[in-house]
Amino acid sequence: MTARDRHQRPLRSLRISVTDRCNLRCGYCMPEEDYVWLPRSDILDLEEVARLARVFAGLGVRRFRLTGGEPLLRRNLVELVRLLRAIEGVEDLALTTNAILLPRFGEDLRAAGLDRITVSLDSLDPERFARLSGRPRLDETLAGIEAARELGFPVKLNTVVLAGQNEDELPALLDFARAQGAELRLIEYMDVGGATRWSSDAVVSRADVLRRLEASHGAIRELGGRGSAPAERFALSDGTVFGVIASTTQPFCGACDRARLTADGRLFLCLYAREGHDLRAPLRAGEGDAQLSQRVATIWGERLDRGAEERRALATRRRPLALAGELRADPHLEMHTRGG
Ligand code: GTP
Ligand code: 5AD
Ligand code: SF4
Repeated sequence: MTARDRHQRPLRSLRISVTDRCNLRCGYCMPEEDYVWLPRSDILDLEEVARLARVFAGLGVRRFRLTGGEPLLRRNLVELVRLLRAIEGVEDLALTTNAILLPRFGEDLRAAGLDRITVSLDSLDPERFARLSGRPRLDETLAGIEAARELGFPVKLNTVVLAGQNEDELPALLDFARAQGAELRLIEYMDVGGATRWSSDAVVSRADVLRRLEASHGAIRELGGRGSAPAERFALSDGTVFGVIASTTQPFCGACDRARLTADGRLFLCLYAREGHDLRAPLRAGEGDAQLSQRVATIWGERLDRGAEERRALATRRRPLALAGELRADPHLEMHTRGG
């Protein structure tokens, strides 16, 4: 059975944030040093996460992604991967990470059944990396990418393109990805929660990205066959494939099949949603799988949002989604809480 929302969108993908903590401070996501963290007692334990994942799989979800914050900071993440891998219907189990802890956990994650890894990487220059991510840890990230490759994981690299900050590095990042056998994805800067420094001037559009890469690498061919994926895929004449995620200038809400579960068990549908749906309370109150499943199906069935399209319609009135004070009052608005 596949649940469908009021735009007939099927629920197919669940992004599970396993912690709101992070060991970097990227300016587009966590520009502050300190945050109001989710209370420890609210964080779902591994069995609770796996139980909810099973409910989602029963509703037709086939793709699961572990996110954060930085998911490798979650204790026993390897065990969670093992639990999720054992769920019937889980076809794709992926991880979004900054890779710093991959040399430590990569091998166990592979053995536990993780399928693939996406690494956030915004610069190959040590000083710039430190400036953009708030920490001088480029070498560790690169070592993590190397570890993922050696372990045989399919790797994607996510770069948020920022005007005047790393847009000149796109050719170098593409060459690096090609040498690593990884697929680079260039992401437009989004005005999501946490991105308090966002302004339209800081966005480098899909069109600008393609123009830059065409100048450095020659003709670019569109590949099509995107389905519900956020990334449009392109190929260079030598066959190198890369993606562009144009959430800001060309949103893809019509094909959205994603839901998000926060580490404290709140279900968010749209990345831009103001409100989530608490699944922890019913779970801890002893609700059975059938009831939980019905609950989730109802929530999805009522879904109407098309957040990125609504944001784009604001045109010149577009500002950051939330102010720092609002984010402190409700950390669930944060991108690092809802997992991107
Ligand atoms: P694959 O499963 O490898 O295709 O990954 P993905 O492209 O679905 O997602 P990934 O987790 O790598 O996300 C990359 C970026 O795309 C995120 O950081 C967001 O900026 C953006 N993104 C992902 N999901 C959504 C979404 O549902 N809506 C919008 N507007 N942007 C999204
Ligand atoms: N705009 C675009 N992408 C963002 N991410 C976080 N904040 C933003 C933002 N404001 C993405 C990064 C990272 C993923 C976890 O979230 O691409 O890879
Ligand atoms: Fe889906 Fe919301 Fe992203 Fe649109 S903005 S694609 S509705 S999550």
